[in-house]
Amino acid sequence: MNVTNQQKKYRIPVIPTVITLLLLITTSAAFFSFTNDHGKKAPVVNADSLASVQAFTQVYRVLMSPRCMNCHPAGDQPLQGEDSHIHTMNVHRGTDGKGLYALKCTNCHQSKNVPGVHTPPGNPKWALPPADMKMVFQGKTAHELAIQIMDYDRNGHKNKEQLLEHARDTLVKAGWNPGEGRALPPLSYTAFVKAWDTWIEKGAFAPK
Ligand code: HEC
Ligand code: HEC
Repeated sequence: MNVTNQQKKYRIPVIPTVITLLLLITTSAAFFSFTNDHGKKAPVVNADSLASVQAFTQVYRVLMSPRCMNCHPAGDQPLQGEDSHIHTMNVHRGTDGKGLYALKCTNCHQSKNVPGVHTPPGNPKWALPPADMKMVFQGKTAHELAIQIMDYDRNGHKNKEQLLEHARDTLVKAGWNPGEGRALPPLSYTAFVKAWDTWIEKGAFAPK
């Protein structure tokens, strides 16, 4: 290979400049964009990293509360109680999240709460997330969880509108109707929805 002196002169400054430009383009896209339903990035208007991160800090407190985390475990068994101990009676996730073999969630969890303490809470959709998309909250930092929830390939393929809608889902709402003897999440439902919307509308930034 014969490289002339003329070519050598140009090679050195051009490569770092191109790399710097590429880095600038990719990082700004990551901060001011949101994944839409085709997995493509779409621009966010009103991006505000400070307000967004502040709102997620509130959201995170709810996500990590037993009412939510008990169905978002790191392992393949749901959790129970204020101390998030492993669900008794050897209950497992199964492929679809609805239970393994004959031990289906809906055998015990009806569409409504059963009166009394230590009875199964109810909801028509009662299940864990499926085995191929576990949506784990347990053990996640606020940074990790914010990124996971925004990730179209890990959040059950939800775009921005579907994520906003999800805070209004009956299963999420049920966290504020947990059945006798169970503590409510640390924010009111209205405050949670407001913080959730603010987090997303301001750009869905992840805390450091
Ligand atoms: C054999 C009956 C039975 C089956 C099957 C069952 N559960 Fe439960 N579950 C219960 C009972 C009873 C409680 C309440 C325990 C208590 O409060 O002491 C409970 C509580 C829970 C809680 C705690 C709720 C909270 O807010 O702390 C979660 C989460 C849960 N079950 C998820 C599931 C999931 C998901 C499945 C299916 C994969 C399932 N359960 C299958 C009987 C069952
Ligand atoms: C009975 C079990 C159950 C409870 C209780 C529950 N969830 Fe979920 N959650 C699920 C299932 C199942 C999915 C997946 C369904 C889907 O994608 O639509 C899910 C998905 C989610 C997602 C998307 C997850 C991700 O990683 O992107 C969020 C956010 C969420 N839930 C928030 C909550 C909040 C907030 C609460 C408490 C107020 C809560 N969940 C309580 C079962 C539960």
